[in-house]
Amino acid sequence: MPKASNGVKTLKDFNVAGKRILIRCDFDVPMDEKGNILDDYRIKQSLPTIEYLVKNKAKVILMGHAGRPDGKVVESLRLISVQKSLEKHLGLKIIKADDCVGKEVESLVASLGEGGILLLENLRFHKEETDNNPEFAEKLSKLGDIYVDNAFANSHRNHASMTGICKYLPSAAGFTLAKEIEVLDKVMKNPGKPLVVIIGGVKVEETKLKLINNFSKSAEAVIISGLIKKGTQDKKIEFENPDKIIFPTGKLDALDINNESIKIFQEKIMQAKTILWNGPFGKFEDKKYEKGTLAIAKAIIKSKAFSIVGGGDTVDFVNKQGMIDKFSHVSTGGGAMLSYLAGDKLPGLEALG
Ligand code: 3PG
Repeated sequence: MPKASNGVKTLKDFNVAGKRILIRCDFDVPMDEKGNILDDYRIKQSLPTIEYLVKNKAKVILMGHAGRPDGKVVESLRLISVQKSLEKHLGLKIIKADDCVGKEVESLVASLGEGGILLLENLRFHKEETDNNPEFAEKLSKLGDIYVDNAFANSHRNHASMTGICKYLPSAAGFTLAKEIEVLDKVMKNPGKPLVVIIGGVKVEETKLKLINNFSKSAEAVIISGLIKKGTQDKKIEFENPDKIIFPTGKLDALDINNESIKIFQEKIMQAKTILWNGPFGKFEDKKYEKGTLAIAKAIIKSKAFSIVGGGDTVDFVNKQGMIDKFSHVSTGGGAMLSYLAGDKLPGLEALG
């Protein structure tokens, strides 16, 4: 297992036997209004780290959040479905606490045996989590001997369980986090060439612009959606290397891309050795308009390039199409992946360093 980044320790640098290992996981998965999980990709990615700890006789304490409950208890955002999903995948019993701090949690931790797993309730039921309240971070830290960050998708959040907690405990990166950093660093610093970057989606955000401009220096082509192009035109924003930017022909706000654009994109994709893709092209959630996004996904798979896919909507799409295993790396991160690739410092990673 590689070092996570800049020499950050990983789990394997610690003797975990008999220790209380407090892991921050990515359990923020899409759920329906009844709390049923619609896509368990992030949960599945957390399994190797948990399995390693169980096998090595740690006392495993899992922390995570779901949604944005704003410091209040929201019944549909309890982590009960996460508990069930983990039990199904691991084939092990998971004890679940009704809160993430307090007396009940402390006694559950105290009675946890080696190889036992305890899941804490949604951290964001406490406003102190998103406020990065130091007392709250300290309370969480008292539940463990070692802190493990495995929540890459939340690394752009300066929250108590991501950053504040590192002041009180020795910290390490979990396997998912370490892998994400390894793959994303490779595409940023030393990608197999030609590199083709494909950035879809609806909005022109500062992070996306920064990412497009950064990769327009290192990539052979940056393919962007019509709406991003339109957004930059409306705001009179110029790209740094316009010659590298490719966008759909025809109406920029069309619901799907046209056949001519598909052909142009496919040609670029087929030449690539590395492809980075984030964001749909068109209103792909409606089957009528998924043709362009589907054609991009199929071309990437056919190209045999090293392919990295990320972003909630994009991952959800390839999962529903039954294609998720066909890409080299499917990132658990949405906003976090974009920020990392834009060159931003992510608070969650800085705190580990
Ligand atoms: C994500 O899904 O990107 C992370 O869980 C962060 O969620 P947030 O945008 O609600 O902070």
